[in-house]
Amino acid sequence: MSANYDLKNKVAIVTGGAKGIGKAIALGLADSGAIVVVASRSKDELEAVTGEIKAKGGGATSVVTDLTVNEQIENLVETTVKTHQRVDILVNNAARSFLRPMMELREDGWDKIFNTNCKGAFLLSRAVAKVMMEQGGGRIINITTVGAVRGGAGMGVYHASKAALSMLTKCMAVEWAPFNINVNAVGPGLTKTAFSQPIWANPEVEKGIAARIPKGRLAEPEEVVGAVLFLCSEESSFITGQSIYVDGGTLANA
Ligand SMILES: NC(=O)c1ccc[n+]([C@@H]2O[C@H](COP(=O)([O-])OP(=O)(O)OC[C@H]3O[C@@H](n4cnc5c(N)ncnc54)[C@H](OP(=O)(O)O)[C@@H]3O)[C@@H](O)[C@H]2O)c1
Repeated sequence: MSANYDLKNKVAIVTGGAKGIGKAIALGLADSGAIVVVASRSKDELEAVTGEIKAKGGGATSVVTDLTVNEQIENLVETTVKTHQRVDILVNNAARSFLRPMMELREDGWDKIFNTNCKGAFLLSRAVAKVMMEQGGGRIINITTVGAVRGGAGMGVYHASKAALSMLTKCMAVEWAPFNINVNAVGPGLTKTAFSQPIWANPEVEKGIAARIPKGRLAEPEEVVGAVLFLCSEESSFITGQSIYVDGGTLANA
């Protein structure tokens, strides 16, 4: 990822920054000059990403965090501020889902999905926004999905959690605009990561899905990064409460 935006010395937290789209975003932010704090539950994966960033001369810290535990969310923010003095950018990227019909989803499945994708992102955004308010502003980017605005079978509760995150994006944008905090969303279409692997693992199924995407293929994680960097940059200073879909034309084709 080339550095098209200047984010030199900005401090950015990326949840789920250890793999998939989050890792691509973390590396893209680092390539643009930001100091990156990656957070997820997997220590080894986090350290591999910070190692990669440091090897290229960038600044990076990892904080093992389970976003379903509020104390750990608070620890993430406190550690970031203690280590880097500020938080300029938050990317709420971590999420989970289960691929099964809603009739088969257990009650604790609902809790795991909503507590990670929605409640965790809300609590972390609020904790970070307090810091951003004190320092005079910042950027929050919520990673949603085309499924936030489009129904489908197999991941209904995930769709609902992302629709909720999409609406939270607008409400946070409205409440925090006076504090110079821009809040936007980036919604990928189907992207080739471990998360979506159960959907595209079968080449025949992948072919069928690709045929319905105007660009004729799934996205690579790196293709989601540009929209995030733009929303972190000065070039997007008057954009807040919006969603950019990185979907190869999927929603336009609905
Ligand atoms: N891939 C797609 O097709 C696609 C399409 C549309 C939108 N998206 C969105 O893009 C984002 C990234 O997806 P991805 O495909 O890159 O997924 P991924 O490869 O599965 O990565 C998800 C990340 O979230 C972290 N995570 C999950 N639960 C967590 C928790 N409780 N606390 C902290 N971290 C947690 C995971 O780390 P640990 O498990 O180690 O904690 C992992 O690093 C998600 O918001 C997803 O909804 C993906």
